[in-house]
Formats: sequence, structure tokens, C-alpha cells
Amino acid sequence: MSRRDDPKDSVHDDKAKRSKRGIGRRDFVKLVGGTGVAVTAEVLARQQLATAAATTQETVVGGGKVIGPGPVPMTLRVNGEAKKLTVEPRVTLLDALRNHLDLTGAKKVCDRGTCGACTVIVNGKATYSCTALAIDVADHEGKPGADIRTIEGLAPEGKLHPVSASFVDNDAQQCGFCTPGFVMACKAFIEKHHNPTAEQVKEALGGNLCRCGTYMGVRKVVVEAAMKMKGGHA
Ligand code: FES
Ligand code: FES
Repeated sequence: MSRRDDPKDSVHDDKAKRSKRGIGRRDFVKLVGGTGVAVTAEVLARQQLATAAATTQETVVGGGKVIGPGPVPMTLRVNGEAKKLTVEPRVTLLDALRNHLDLTGAKKVCDRGTCGACTVIVNGKATYSCTALAIDVADHEGKPGADIRTIEGLAPEGKLHPVSASFVDNDAQQCGFCTPGFVMACKAFIEKHHNPTAEQVKEALGGNLCRCGTYMGVRKVVVEAAMKMKGGHA
């Protein structure tokens, strides 16, 4: 067999040609097969996100409306006032209040529905605002949204509300970080229970945690404030 017929030589020649041309087709396919797919997918995903982020209004897809994911205008009914804001549909009521409406009384502690520091009153019920989406309680198709009450709305004239005053009288806070959530939980409870038993009070406050351990004082607050408020509303 002549040197020219040797198969090893032909492989060698091919490699030499490829290296002269730069990256070969086979090399390119190998490269794309390994990392290229991931890179391409990432680039596509980024493009889709950029397009989506630019979407600020409702889009109609098929028979249904898709809202977001970009910021959408909405109106929240907070402490008797209509508040306009523009936020992404994924924004919680807590973040909408604190970061967009400057109502920082409700506190962000666990941000996952376990501590009660973010409690506000929504349609008369004590609610963890970190677990509700702002868009779900906003005005919808011309109908007013939920009635949202925060600690800022408790004393519009600057006078302490009977529940807040009872916290002071009963020494029911230490660092005070959990207190706005407790006050709102107590108020929502007293509005429905005008003459609560000790057991009911304990159960009603079970969703609020206090790291300073002021529970005994807070229970006294509920009983005292319930007596002061009589009809439950103040
Ligand atoms: S911050 Fe909402 S329950 Fe803890
Ligand atoms: S008073 Fe400090 S966490 Fe409750």
C-alpha cells in the first residue's frame, strides 16, 4: 500500500484542512450541542422577558385577558380614600402599601403568612397583607375594590384609638415592631366580639407573634378595649 493509500494519512489531511479553515462544522455542532442550546434558550427567555416587561396593559389572548407581567394601573381603597398606583400584578398588598403608598405601619417580617406583623383589615377581616395580591383587592371593571384599613387610618384626628390607648395603658409592647399588626388584629376581633371570653381572645390572637412576649398585656388590651368600645366600632 502506497503512502497515499494509507487511511491514517487521509484523516491527518482532513484535520489539517479543518485547522486551516478555522472551526470545523463537526466542532461547531459539538459546541452547540453542549452549551449552545442553553445559551440560545437563555437569550430567547431574556427577549421574552424584555417584551413582557414592556407590556403594561391588559392583553387579550384567546378568550381571556392576561394582565401584566409589567406594571398595571390600579386603584386601592385604603382608609376610605381611593389610591391610584401602578404595580406589577405579582406585588403583594403589603409591598403596595409600604413601597408605593408610603403606608409603613404594617410591618414586613416573615413575608410568608406566619407572624402577623403585616396585619391589616380587609372587608372587616384581619388579613395578612403579605399573602394578598394588591391586584386582587383593587377596583375591578368599574366596581370598587375591597375596603382596606391600615393602622394609619385608626387615628385620623391624631387622637389615640381606644385599642392603641389600651396598649399603652397595659404596657402591651416592648420593641413595638409587632404592635401595629396586633392592634389591627385586636380591632377586627372586637368589632365582631363585643364581650369576648378569655379563650376567644387567646384564639383570636393566635395568628400574631411577639418576640418580646407581650401576650398577657395584649390579652388585657382586648378585654379593656372591648369594654371601652361597647358597640365594637370606634
Ligand atoms: S409579614 Fe405577613 S405574616 Fe409575617
Ligand atoms: S413588642 Fe417586640 S416583637 Fe412584640
